[in-house]
Amino acid sequence: MEIFIMDNAEEIGKAAGKLFVDAINKKPNIVLGLATGASPVPTYQYIYGEYQKGNVSLRDVVTYNLDEYVDLPKSDKNSYYSFMHTELFDHTDIREENVHFLDGNAADVEAECKRYDEALDRAQVDIQLLGIGRNGHIGFNEPSICFTKGAFKVKLTQSTISANSMYFNENPMPHYALTMGVGSIMKAKKIVLVATGSAKADAMAAMIHGEVTPVCPASILQFHHDVVVFMDKDAAKLL
Ligand code: PGA
Repeated sequence: MEIFIMDNAEEIGKAAGKLFVDAINKKPNIVLGLATGASPVPTYQYIYGEYQKGNVSLRDVVTYNLDEYVDLPKSDKNSYYSFMHTELFDHTDIREENVHFLDGNAADVEAECKRYDEALDRAQVDIQLLGIGRNGHIGFNEPSICFTKGAFKVKLTQSTISANSMYFNENPMPHYALTMGVGSIMKAKKIVLVATGSAKADAMAAMIHGEVTPVCPASILQFHHDVVVFMDKDAAKLL
């Protein structure tokens, strides 16, 4: 695991963003696994900033997002579909047919998860971007008694609901989501994880120095051969 401790979120965004821009320029049809939440936003700002300067094109980039809320319309401002368009896609030349999400409104959840797993296996993610939950979750793989393999419907924990409910002003936050499994995340050729703030310090310590256990799903990353971690000093304070 390669670990970089940076001064602030902006520096993380520049460093992680540059890694992605360089990778896209090297392989224009790269397959990216993408994440939502506050942590990746500076990375996305750097990427679309470079697009706007003419330094990179996302025309042939293919993306698969980690997760999506269940029973939230795609058009809702809090859907991860909306998030990705607002925070990245709409500012670039990425093609809509190249962006992929789990469908949180699918009538047959099992079939939907199977569809996504098969698509991921065919596509083979080159770089997976991850944030981390305060409880050590990656995607929406919450602390559990076993590591998950493929995509599935998850009941969100109170920790995740407390962390994310601030985004839901008018409507209550969904308590269920569809998420890529830990096994699928681990199949990415490279993983980049970004974390900021002292609320992540426990999770970062458990991920890096703790036992590999589904109680801290991110700890499985100790078994991946190519992980780059960018975090700020607050997130690193227990290392
Ligand atoms: P955050 O979420 O970046 O909004 O803190 C990260 C996560 O829950 O994976």
